[in-house]
Amino acid sequence: MADVRVAVIGVGNVGSTFVRGIEHYSGGKNTVGLWHEKVAGLKPSNVKVVAAYDIDPAKVGRSLADIAGEHGSGAKKNLKVDISPGILTDAGTKLGNPATVSTSDFTRKLEGSGAQVALNLVSSGMDKSSADYAKAALKAGVSFVNATPARVAVSSTLSRQFAQKRLVLAGDDLLSQFGGTAFHKAMIDFMVERGVHVKKSYQLDVGGSAETKNTMDERVRMMKRAMKTSSIGMEAPYRFESVAGTTEYTDFLGDSRNSYYWMSSDGFLGSSIVMDLTLRTSDGANAGNVLLDVVRAIAGARGAKAAEVICAYGFKNPPKQLKIRKAYEGFVEMFA
Ligand SMILES: NC(=O)c1ccc[n+]([C@@H]2O[C@H](COP(=O)([O-])OP(=O)(O)OC[C@H]3O[C@@H](n4cnc5c(N)ncnc54)[C@H](O)[C@@H]3O)[C@@H](O)[C@H]2O)c1
Repeated sequence: MADVRVAVIGVGNVGSTFVRGIEHYSGGKNTVGLWHEKVAGLKPSNVKVVAAYDIDPAKVGRSLADIAGEHGSGAKKNLKVDISPGILTDAGTKLGNPATVSTSDFTRKLEGSGAQVALNLVSSGMDKSSADYAKAALKAGVSFVNATPARVAVSSTLSRQFAQKRLVLAGDDLLSQFGGTAFHKAMIDFMVERGVHVKKSYQLDVGGSAETKNTMDERVRMMKRAMKTSSIGMEAPYRFESVAGTTEYTDFLGDSRNSYYWMSSDGFLGSSIVMDLTLRTSDGANAGNVLLDVVRAIAGARGAKAAEVICAYGFKNPPKQLKIRKAYEGFVEMFA
């Protein structure tokens, strides 16, 4: 199968890790930590980043390999992609002088890049820009992945328009490989399967990335909390009290995230089962595997059902929510 050509929109922690991951796993020798060696018949070496966009003047005009390299080793030295200006339709960016282009200029550039899939990895809270990027991708004839919590893929109108052009619209809000929400969902699923009645649970995330800092904005925090909480709630066939969200930004944690869980359930004869757990993970790496799977699956996607399967597998707020196990089985059956 041919390569899949990808445009990265927003070269931050996740975008950089994605680029580094392609380089790291392209040799084919070291597969430790790689979830699926082949998806839709494609290896990581079949994923080619052909364009990158950002609005940060400190990044625009610089080489993608340089920026990705600042987040850790492994960025491709011969990756000949420079970062171009993106679009900005949200008010209130903290950047003094953002580097931007009009939506129509962006659409033309994206079309000319030859990308088949655009990955939207911009900061959360950029809801209008994310929606405009999706519309630009649609116009340019490029499939679109919305990893941000902006409500894009849940729009049935937009999904239909992508499908009519035989493109995939995937999202919303990436479900990390082994992040706070995926782990929480799996614990609830396991308790339900073992006949334990879940009563209450919470997940408090503390992180140190730019994205976590951004999430401290109360509007963004509450939006992400609602998405995480609803994604967890659907793992049980009954309602239980739960809360899941980012509670604090601590700069010295950097890319790592601590998730603190407390779950209270009833067992046989009402016996009490209580869990107190801590999970420590790296945000960027946690996103990398899922994104690598999603772009390869999009390249191999055939028919209307494929988009639904990809969304349920890789995202916290897909148009059609499935339990974590069902979503995984569906993806493996179709693509891996
Ligand atoms: N595991 C994970 O890290 C994870 C999981 C789920 C969702 N996400 C989502 O992925 C996205 C990226 O996360 P991150 O940690 O890389 O964030 P980040 O803050 O490190 O990077 C975001 C980048 O986007 C750029 N940007 C902002 N607005 C832009 C615009 N309008 N156009 C182009 N570029 C723009 C910023 O300059 C920055 O370089 C976030 O929306 C986050 O919610 C990440």
